[in-house]
Amino acid sequence: MPSAPGPVDRLRSAWYGFWFALSERTGRVRGPRAETPCGELGNLAPEARARVDSLRAHYAVAFERRYAARSALLNYEYLDLLDAASAEWGWEPPRGGEVHDVGCGGFAYAAALHRWFAPRRLVGIDVEGHRRLQGGVTRHERVLGHLQGLAGAEFVVADYREYAERADVLTAFFPFVTPGPVLGWRLPLGLLDPSTLFGAMRRNLRPGGLLLMVNHGAEEAAVAAREATAAGFALRGRVERERLGGEPPWPVVVSTWC
Ligand SMILES: C[S@@+](CC[C@H](N)C(=O)[O-])C[C@H]1O[C@@H](n2cnc3c(N)ncnc32)[C@H](O)[C@@H]1O
Repeated sequence: MPSAPGPVDRLRSAWYGFWFALSERTGRVRGPRAETPCGELGNLAPEARARVDSLRAHYAVAFERRYAARSALLNYEYLDLLDAASAEWGWEPPRGGEVHDVGCGGFAYAAALHRWFAPRRLVGIDVEGHRRLQGGVTRHERVLGHLQGLAGAEFVVADYREYAERADVLTAFFPFVTPGPVLGWRLPLGLLDPSTLFGAMRRNLRPGGLLLMVNHGAEEAAVAAREATAAGFALRGRVERERLGGEPPWPVVVSTWC
Protein backbone atom coordinates (compact mmCIF):
# COMPACT_ATOMS: atom_id res chain seq x y z
CA MET A 1 0.00 0.00 0.00
CA PRO A 2 1.30 3.52 -0.72
CA SER A 3 2.47 5.24 2.48
CA ALA A 4 0.51 8.19 3.87
CA PRO A 5 2.14 11.62 3.37
CA GLY A 6 4.42 12.69 6.26
CA PRO A 7 5.19 16.22 7.55
CA VAL A 8 7.88 16.86 4.89
CA ASP A 9 5.42 15.83 2.17
CA ARG A 10 2.87 18.25 3.59
CA LEU A 11 5.40 21.07 3.55
CA ARG A 12 6.30 20.30 -0.05
CA SER A 13 2.60 20.18 -0.90
CA ALA A 14 2.02 23.63 0.64
CA TRP A 15 4.98 25.05 -1.32
CA TYR A 16 3.77 23.56 -4.61
CA GLY A 17 0.25 24.77 -3.80
CA PHE A 18 1.54 28.32 -3.43
CA TRP A 19 3.31 28.27 -6.82
CA PHE A 20 0.42 26.48 -8.51
CA ALA A 21 -2.07 29.13 -7.34
CA LEU A 22 0.31 31.91 -8.38
CA SER A 23 0.99 30.53 -11.87
CA GLU A 24 -2.70 29.90 -12.57
CA ARG A 25 -3.42 33.57 -11.87
CA THR A 26 -1.17 34.71 -14.70
CA GLY A 27 -3.25 33.27 -17.52
CA ARG A 28 -1.79 35.10 -20.53
CA VAL A 29 -1.51 32.90 -23.63
CA ARG A 30 0.60 34.34 -26.47
CA GLY A 31 -0.30 31.63 -29.01
CA PRO A 32 1.03 28.22 -30.07
CA ARG A 33 4.68 27.45 -29.36
CA ALA A 34 5.63 24.35 -31.33
CA GLU A 35 8.72 22.26 -30.61
CA THR A 36 11.62 22.04 -33.03
CA PRO A 37 11.39 18.60 -34.64
CA CYS A 38 14.28 16.29 -33.84
CA GLY A 39 14.19 14.75 -37.33
CA GLU A 40 15.32 11.37 -36.06
CA LEU A 41 15.08 9.37 -32.85
CA GLY A 42 18.51 8.29 -31.62
CA ASN A 43 19.55 6.22 -28.60
CA LEU A 44 16.91 3.53 -28.85
CA ALA A 45 17.58 -0.08 -27.90
CA PRO A 46 17.43 -2.36 -30.97
CA GLU A 47 14.08 -3.90 -29.94
CA ALA A 48 12.52 -0.49 -29.35
CA ARG A 49 13.92 0.75 -32.67
CA ALA A 50 12.33 -2.19 -34.50
CA ARG A 51 8.98 -1.55 -32.78
CA VAL A 52 9.09 2.18 -33.62
CA ASP A 53 9.81 1.32 -37.24
CA SER A 54 6.89 -1.08 -37.36
CA LEU A 55 4.50 1.47 -35.76
CA ARG A 56 5.72 4.12 -38.22
CA ALA A 57 4.98 1.86 -41.15
CA HIS A 58 1.68 0.43 -39.87
CA TYR A 59 0.14 3.74 -38.81
CA ALA A 60 1.90 5.93 -41.42
CA VAL A 61 3.19 8.31 -38.74
CA ALA A 62 6.51 10.13 -38.32
CA PHE A 63 6.33 11.89 -34.94
CA GLU A 64 10.01 12.86 -35.11
CA ARG A 65 9.16 15.19 -38.01
CA ARG A 66 6.74 17.13 -35.78
CA TYR A 67 8.25 17.01 -32.30
CA ALA A 68 11.41 17.11 -30.22
CA ALA A 69 12.84 13.70 -29.32
CA ARG A 70 11.11 13.32 -25.95
CA SER A 71 7.65 14.10 -27.30
CA ALA A 72 8.19 12.00 -30.42
CA LEU A 73 9.14 9.00 -28.28
CA LEU A 74 6.14 9.61 -25.99
CA ASN A 75 3.82 9.40 -29.01
CA TYR A 76 5.35 6.09 -30.10
CA GLU A 77 5.13 4.79 -26.53
CA TYR A 78 1.43 5.62 -26.15
CA LEU A 79 0.61 4.34 -29.63
CA ASP A 80 2.44 1.14 -28.73
CA LEU A 81 0.32 0.75 -25.55
CA LEU A 82 -2.91 1.22 -27.52
CA ASP A 83 -1.79 -1.13 -30.28
CA ALA A 84 -0.66 -3.80 -27.78
CA ALA A 85 -3.96 -3.60 -25.87
CA SER A 86 -5.86 -3.91 -29.13
CA ALA A 87 -3.83 -6.96 -30.19
CA GLU A 88 -4.29 -8.62 -26.77
CA TRP A 89 -8.07 -8.15 -26.64
CA GLY A 90 -8.93 -8.14 -30.34
CA TRP A 91 -10.28 -4.68 -29.57
CA GLU A 92 -11.09 -2.11 -32.27
CA PRO A 93 -10.93 1.53 -31.15
CA PRO A 94 -14.25 3.38 -31.35
CA ARG A 95 -13.57 5.92 -34.10
CA GLY A 96 -15.09 9.25 -35.05
CA GLY A 97 -16.43 10.14 -31.60
CA GLU A 98 -15.63 12.75 -28.97
CA VAL A 99 -12.54 11.81 -26.97
CA HIS A 100 -11.58 13.57 -23.73
CA ASP A 101 -8.15 13.02 -22.17
CA VAL A 102 -8.42 13.59 -18.41
CA GLY A 103 -5.31 15.16 -16.83
CA CYS A 104 -3.49 15.57 -20.15
CA GLY A 105 -0.42 17.35 -18.71
CA GLY A 106 1.57 18.77 -21.62
CA PHE A 107 -0.54 16.67 -24.02
CA ALA A 108 2.57 15.96 -26.09
CA TYR A 109 0.99 12.61 -27.02
CA ALA A 110 -2.17 14.12 -28.55
CA ALA A 111 -1.05 13.10 -32.06
CA ALA A 112 -0.95 9.41 -31.06
CA LEU A 113 -4.52 9.61 -29.67
CA HIS A 114 -5.62 11.48 -32.77
CA ARG A 115 -4.18 8.77 -35.02
CA TRP A 116 -5.67 5.98 -32.94
CA PHE A 117 -9.21 7.25 -32.33
CA ALA A 118 -9.61 9.46 -35.45
CA PRO A 119 -11.91 11.57 -33.26
CA ARG A 120 -14.44 14.16 -34.32
CA ARG A 121 -13.23 16.15 -31.33
CA LEU A 122 -10.24 15.54 -29.06
CA VAL A 123 -10.14 17.56 -25.84
CA GLY A 124 -7.24 17.49 -23.39
CA ILE A 125 -8.25 18.73 -19.95
CA ASP A 126 -5.78 19.66 -17.25
CA VAL A 127 -6.10 21.62 -14.04
CA GLU A 128 -2.70 23.22 -14.62
CA GLY A 129 -2.26 25.43 -17.67
CA HIS A 130 0.23 28.12 -16.95
CA ARG A 131 3.32 26.47 -15.51
CA ARG A 132 6.42 28.00 -17.12
CA LEU A 133 8.57 25.60 -19.09
CA GLN A 134 12.09 26.00 -20.41
CA GLY A 135 12.54 29.13 -22.50
CA GLY A 136 9.69 30.99 -20.78
CA VAL A 137 6.98 29.15 -22.73
CA THR A 138 3.88 28.21 -20.71
CA ARG A 139 2.27 24.80 -20.74
CA HIS A 140 -0.81 26.22 -22.48
CA GLU A 141 1.30 27.69 -25.28
CA ARG A 142 3.25 24.45 -25.68
CA VAL A 143 0.07 22.35 -25.78
CA LEU A 144 -1.34 24.61 -28.50
CA GLY A 145 1.91 23.99 -30.39
CA HIS A 146 1.45 20.21 -30.02
CA LEU A 147 -2.13 20.44 -31.29
CA GLN A 148 -1.32 22.35 -34.48
CA GLY A 149 -2.53 20.41 -37.50
CA LEU A 150 -4.71 18.01 -35.47
CA ALA A 151 -8.28 18.63 -36.67
CA GLY A 152 -10.81 19.03 -33.85
CA ALA A 153 -8.18 19.07 -31.08
CA GLU A 154 -8.45 21.47 -28.11
CA PHE A 155 -6.95 22.14 -24.70
CA VAL A 156 -9.11 23.15 -21.75
CA VAL A 157 -7.65 24.31 -18.45
CA ALA A 158 -10.14 23.04 -15.88
CA ASP A 159 -10.47 20.93 -12.78
CA TYR A 160 -11.98 17.75 -14.15
CA ARG A 161 -13.82 17.16 -10.87
CA GLU A 162 -16.04 20.10 -11.86
CA TYR A 163 -16.05 19.46 -15.60
CA ALA A 164 -19.46 18.67 -17.10
CA GLU A 165 -18.99 17.83 -20.79
CA ARG A 166 -20.04 14.44 -22.16
CA ALA A 167 -17.66 12.21 -24.13
CA ASP A 168 -17.83 8.92 -26.07
CA VAL A 169 -14.33 7.94 -24.96
CA LEU A 170 -12.35 9.02 -21.91
CA THR A 171 -8.63 8.39 -21.67
CA ALA A 172 -6.67 8.82 -18.44
CA PHE A 173 -2.92 8.28 -18.67
CA PHE A 174 -1.48 8.06 -15.16
CA PRO A 175 -4.27 9.74 -13.14
CA PHE A 176 -3.32 10.61 -9.56
CA VAL A 177 -4.46 7.84 -7.20
CA THR A 178 -1.52 7.84 -4.74
CA PRO A 179 0.42 10.75 -3.16
CA GLY A 180 3.91 10.10 -4.66
CA PRO A 181 3.15 11.13 -8.26
CA VAL A 182 1.26 14.28 -7.12
CA LEU A 183 4.38 15.57 -5.37
CA GLY A 184 6.54 14.21 -8.21
CA TRP A 185 4.62 16.54 -10.54
CA ARG A 186 5.20 19.41 -8.08
CA LEU A 187 1.50 19.77 -7.32
CA PRO A 188 -0.40 20.08 -4.02
CA LEU A 189 -1.87 16.99 -2.37
CA GLY A 190 -5.33 18.58 -2.50
CA LEU A 191 -5.41 17.24 -6.09
CA LEU A 192 -5.32 13.70 -4.76
CA ASP A 193 -9.06 13.07 -4.82
CA PRO A 194 -9.59 9.95 -6.92
CA SER A 195 -13.14 9.19 -5.83
CA THR A 196 -14.40 12.61 -7.04
CA LEU A 197 -12.27 12.35 -10.20
CA PHE A 198 -13.61 8.91 -11.12
CA GLY A 199 -17.15 10.02 -10.19
CA ALA A 200 -16.84 12.88 -12.69
CA MET A 201 -15.58 10.49 -15.35
CA ARG A 202 -18.52 8.17 -14.76
CA ARG A 203 -20.95 11.10 -14.99
CA ASN A 204 -19.42 12.47 -18.18
CA LEU A 205 -19.08 9.22 -20.12
CA ARG A 206 -21.99 8.72 -22.52
CA PRO A 207 -23.94 5.45 -22.29
CA GLY A 208 -22.06 2.78 -24.25
CA GLY A 209 -18.83 4.79 -23.91
CA LEU A 210 -15.38 3.59 -22.96
CA LEU A 211 -12.76 4.62 -20.40
CA LEU A 212 -9.17 3.71 -21.24
CA MET A 213 -6.75 4.08 -18.34
CA VAL A 214 -2.99 3.60 -17.92
CA ASN A 215 -1.32 3.25 -14.51
CA HIS A 216 2.32 3.16 -13.46
CA GLY A 217 2.38 -0.47 -12.28
CA ALA A 218 0.33 -3.27 -10.74
CA GLU A 219 0.13 -1.67 -7.28
CA GLU A 220 -1.08 1.70 -8.55
CA ALA A 221 -3.42 -0.05 -11.02
CA ALA A 222 -5.02 -1.96 -8.13
CA VAL A 223 -5.78 1.31 -6.29
CA ALA A 224 -7.14 2.85 -9.50
CA ALA A 225 -9.25 -0.25 -10.19
CA ARG A 226 -10.88 0.03 -6.75
CA GLU A 227 -11.72 3.67 -7.43
CA ALA A 228 -13.07 2.92 -10.91
CA THR A 229 -15.21 0.07 -9.60
CA ALA A 230 -16.53 2.19 -6.70
CA ALA A 231 -17.53 4.88 -9.23
CA GLY A 232 -19.57 2.30 -11.19
CA PHE A 233 -17.18 1.24 -13.96
CA ALA A 234 -16.87 -2.40 -15.05
CA LEU A 235 -13.53 -3.81 -16.25
CA ARG A 236 -13.38 -4.96 -19.88
CA GLY A 237 -9.71 -5.70 -20.46
CA ARG A 238 -6.30 -5.36 -18.82
CA VAL A 239 -2.76 -5.79 -20.12
CA GLU A 240 0.73 -5.12 -18.70
CA ARG A 241 3.41 -3.75 -21.01
CA GLU A 242 6.87 -2.22 -20.74
CA ARG A 243 7.27 1.25 -22.21
CA LEU A 244 9.42 1.52 -25.32
CA GLY A 245 11.80 4.02 -23.70
CA GLY A 246 12.40 1.59 -20.79
CA GLU A 247 11.14 3.99 -18.05
CA PRO A 248 9.84 2.98 -15.59
CA PRO A 249 11.78 -0.31 -15.64
CA TRP A 250 8.60 -2.29 -14.93
CA PRO A 251 5.41 -2.74 -16.97
CA VAL A 252 2.65 -0.15 -16.96
CA VAL A 253 -0.96 -1.38 -16.84
CA VAL A 254 -3.46 -0.55 -19.60
CA SER A 255 -7.12 -1.22 -18.84
CA THR A 256 -10.48 -0.44 -20.42
CA TRP A 257 -13.76 0.10 -18.57
CA CYS A 258 -17.37 0.62 -19.52
C1 LIG B 1 0.77 12.01 -13.74
S1 LIG B 1 0.27 13.39 -14.66
C2 LIG B 1 -0.08 12.65 -16.25
C3 LIG B 1 -0.07 13.61 -17.37
C4 LIG B 1 -0.37 13.01 -18.75
N1 LIG B 1 -1.62 12.29 -18.75
C5 LIG B 1 0.75 12.12 -19.24
O1 LIG B 1 0.52 10.92 -19.45
O2 LIG B 1 1.89 12.63 -19.43
C6 LIG B 1 -1.35 13.75 -14.03
C7 LIG B 1 -1.94 15.01 -14.62
O3 LIG B 1 -3.26 15.14 -14.11
C8 LIG B 1 -3.52 16.50 -13.87
N2 LIG B 1 -4.63 16.57 -12.90
C9 LIG B 1 -4.63 16.16 -11.61
N3 LIG B 1 -5.81 16.37 -11.03
C10 LIG B 1 -6.60 16.92 -11.99
C11 LIG B 1 -7.94 17.39 -12.02
N4 LIG B 1 -8.72 17.32 -10.92
N5 LIG B 1 -8.43 17.91 -13.15
C12 LIG B 1 -7.65 17.99 -14.27
N6 LIG B 1 -6.37 17.58 -14.30
C13 LIG B 1 -5.85 17.05 -13.18
C14 LIG B 1 -2.22 17.05 -13.36
O4 LIG B 1 -2.12 18.45 -13.51
C15 LIG B 1 -1.22 16.29 -14.24
O5 LIG B 1 -0.92 17.02 -15.41
